[in-house]
Amino acid sequence: MKLTVNGEPRQVAEDWQDETLLTVLREHFGLTGSRFSCGIGQCGACLVHIEGAPVSSCLVPIKDVADKSVLTIEGLAAEDGSLHPLQQAWLDANVPQCGYCQSGQIMQALALLQRNPDPDDTDIDTAMSGNLCRCGTYDRIRASIKTAAVVMKEIG
Ligand code: FES
Ligand code: FES
Repeated sequence: MKLTVNGEPRQVAEDWQDETLLTVLREHFGLTGSRFSCGIGQCGACLVHIEGAPVSSCLVPIKDVADKSVLTIEGLAAEDGSLHPLQQAWLDANVPQCGYCQSGQIMQALALLQRNPDPDDTDIDTAMSGNLCRCGTYDRIRASIKTAAVVMKEIG
C-alpha cells in the first residue's frame, strides 16, 4: 500500500501492515517529530493530520491510511526552510521545556486555526484539552496560538 506524507509519496512494506501509523512514521520513515508517549490516545504527543483532520497516530492502523494524505510536524515549514507561523511563535515565546509534547501541541493548534482563525481563550483551552504537557507550558501555548493567529491572518 502507499500513502502520501508531507506531500511525498511513500510505500508501506508488506511486513509493516500490522503496525500503527506512528510506528511507521517514526521507525520506517525516520519522521521522529511525532512522539510516542501514552500509546492509548490520551496525551496528543503523536498527533498528526490525516486528510486535514487531527488524529492520534498511535491509534491508527497503517492499513487505515492507505492512499491518504498525512501531515506531520516535519511538513509544516515552507520549502525554503522558513518556519510556519505557529513554529515561529513557539520559538519566539520559548514555549517548550522538555519539548516532548510540543509537536503534537503545534499540530493540534494548526487544526484549531484552520477551523477558527480567531480563537479566544475558551476556544483554545477546549481545542487543546486533549494535548497534555507535563511541564505545564499551557499559558505560553495559549499566547503563541494567539500570536500565530494574527500572523496567519496577515499573510492570508
Ligand atoms: S501517544 Fe498517542 S495519544 Fe499519547
Ligand atoms: S514541554 Fe515537556 S511535556 Fe510539554
